[in-house]
Amino acid sequence: MFKVSRRHFAKLAGLSALALATLARSRGGAARPGPYAPASFPKDFLWGTATSAYQIEGAASEDGRGPSIWDTFAHAEGNIGDRSNGDVACDHYHRYKDDVGLIRELGAKAYRFSIAWPRVFPDGTGTPNPKGLDFYDRLVDELLRSGIEPYATLYHWDLPQALQDRGGGWLSSETSRAFGDYAGHVATRLSDRVKSFFTVNECGRFVPFGYGLGIDAPGLKLPDAQVNQARHHVALAHGLAVQAIRAHGRVGTRVGVAENISTCLPAIDTPANIEAAAVATRELNAGFLNVILTGQYTEGFLNYAGANAPKFTPDELKIISSPNDFLGLNIYAPGYYIVASDRPPGFSVLPIPSSFPHMSSDWLRIAPETMYWAPRLAAEIWNVDTIYITENGTSGIDKLHPDGQVYDLDRIMFLRNYLTQLQRAITDGVPVRGYFLWSLMDNFEWIFGYEKRFGLYRVDFETQARTPKLSASFYRDVIARNAIGA
Ligand code: NOJ
Repeated sequence: MFKVSRRHFAKLAGLSALALATLARSRGGAARPGPYAPASFPKDFLWGTATSAYQIEGAASEDGRGPSIWDTFAHAEGNIGDRSNGDVACDHYHRYKDDVGLIRELGAKAYRFSIAWPRVFPDGTGTPNPKGLDFYDRLVDELLRSGIEPYATLYHWDLPQALQDRGGGWLSSETSRAFGDYAGHVATRLSDRVKSFFTVNECGRFVPFGYGLGIDAPGLKLPDAQVNQARHHVALAHGLAVQAIRAHGRVGTRVGVAENISTCLPAIDTPANIEAAAVATRELNAGFLNVILTGQYTEGFLNYAGANAPKFTPDELKIISSPNDFLGLNIYAPGYYIVASDRPPGFSVLPIPSSFPHMSSDWLRIAPETMYWAPRLAAEIWNVDTIYITENGTSGIDKLHPDGQVYDLDRIMFLRNYLTQLQRAITDGVPVRGYFLWSLMDNFEWIFGYEKRFGLYRVDFETQARTPKLSASFYRDVIARNAIGA
């Protein structure tokens, strides 16, 4: 029941294979010319899927793992929509071998997972837990045995609770230093096999949601000055981790960030609006991506923040902007639709109409062109030569049909359209080298618990059975042909 057979995939993908074969025969087997040619990707394009530790692992108190702020937050009354938590989640800690099998079934060449800091340093700092990295050792070996390249994220929101209790978590630069030490330790142990690391995931979410709005862990509602300071400490942590990985990792270990860039799209693609969207991209990412990639807080950001601006030293800016090897972008909904303006700062943000379509998550507005503009503008303004789409995907209702299948045509629609725009970007020379679909399987979707399903595989959280959705066949087909469409 848990195992997914090749036959099962073949059955789902079979129709299209049959149709393709028939078409190819009727045309003497030759590829169709001109406008009907499939939208293909570069030969070495890296197709992958993504997950994170707290969302899938479970085993919350096994092998010496300490508590994280998400354990505390999820266990507190009223924080999670379905009153669930990540204690068991997908039980991936015990089922990782089968789960690697699921990635293999897709034909994916890469897998982005995250390492739980509280497994490695249960107290945040100090002596590492002797068993802390054993699980990741096993996981990485299993991935490599299966021909899947591991991409490890060091921080996907599960801060050791001890660091929150001692210094207020990201409110203290001690946390940034602790993160640097943790990154160095992981690099020492894993960089013989893990060649690519992401430092922090979505600073643009966990700082404002966790420290400003109080709707993510640690659930604080603090004034802007402290939110800005916390963000600065995350940027500092990123820089310290980059340096630690350079110092302790094997030669050739690569490192970058995975960020939910504030996406700015020209409302109508005129040259003036495109230029304005570039200015907006820089300014609306000034507190994190821009400072990491340029070593400066923009004047606009500092003026706007005024007395609430973060306190920093020139030395810190140097650390923060230590050179990266790539940029990871998580792309979902459009952030801002931009038009050019004669008045400073040179752009206006348009209101989004309430009738704008969205997926089953209300926030997930459907705008495939986000996948074109975000990497294009990022590459242009920050002069980046290697971009990974570190996340993209959608939630769905994903009911089991009486025949036992999940016909998630809405997810296929979403992916097809976003991937088409990605292919357009690459064709226009945007240096996107890989794509990690979020997510491999349904998992703990933070404040929404298990009610929002993002997986290519449906998880029955009672039995832990995994069932491939139709979108798994879709993605498998895209990977196999390295193209969308036929
Ligand atoms: C971004 C986050 O990194 C991930 O943890 C989350 O599940 C997805 N978005 C979907 O909301």
